[in-house]
Amino acid sequence: MTTRVLFVCLGNICRSPTAHGVFSQLISNAGLADRILVDSAGTSSWHEGTVPDSRAVQVARAQGYDLSFIRSRQVTSTDFVEQDLILAMDNDNLANLQARCPVEYQQKIYRFLDFAEDLNTREVPDPYYGGNEGFIRVLSLVEHGGRALLAHLQQGY
Ligand code: 4NP
Repeated sequence: MTTRVLFVCLGNICRSPTAHGVFSQLISNAGLADRILVDSAGTSSWHEGTVPDSRAVQVARAQGYDLSFIRSRQVTSTDFVEQDLILAMDNDNLANLQARCPVEYQQKIYRFLDFAEDLNTREVPDPYYGGNEGFIRVLSLVEHGGRALLAHLQQGY
């Protein structure tokens, strides 16, 4: 039995690739890489086919995470069928996903940080137009959210 997790932001070049790379590392370290399949996508197609933003790549690499294998793609209607958990980075992406998702799959959609109950925010803020500190904040929130999501999934095994 495998669980498929899809992280979703706007461009799929900053936040969701960071979550994709960090969570892949977490589940690999936990010995669960064959049971939890990780992917990421954007609600937009603006950066389709491109590598993650160089600022996200560098901030992640400094902490030992590899994002270089990821290429941006847009969420498809197939994702709503095939993924088990579809995790939005912020409220705008949540609303976008909920508007596009058939009613029978709506229960797959959450905000990523809904699982990080000890954090006082439910959103990973868009870092694209800001400075490097925004990317450092994204990585910190993603590491925290990733640990919480892993703990949630391990309860099911
Ligand atoms: P992401 O960040 O949604 O975390 O990948 C963004 C990337 C690109 C743009 C906005 C946010 N953009 O406007 O192109």
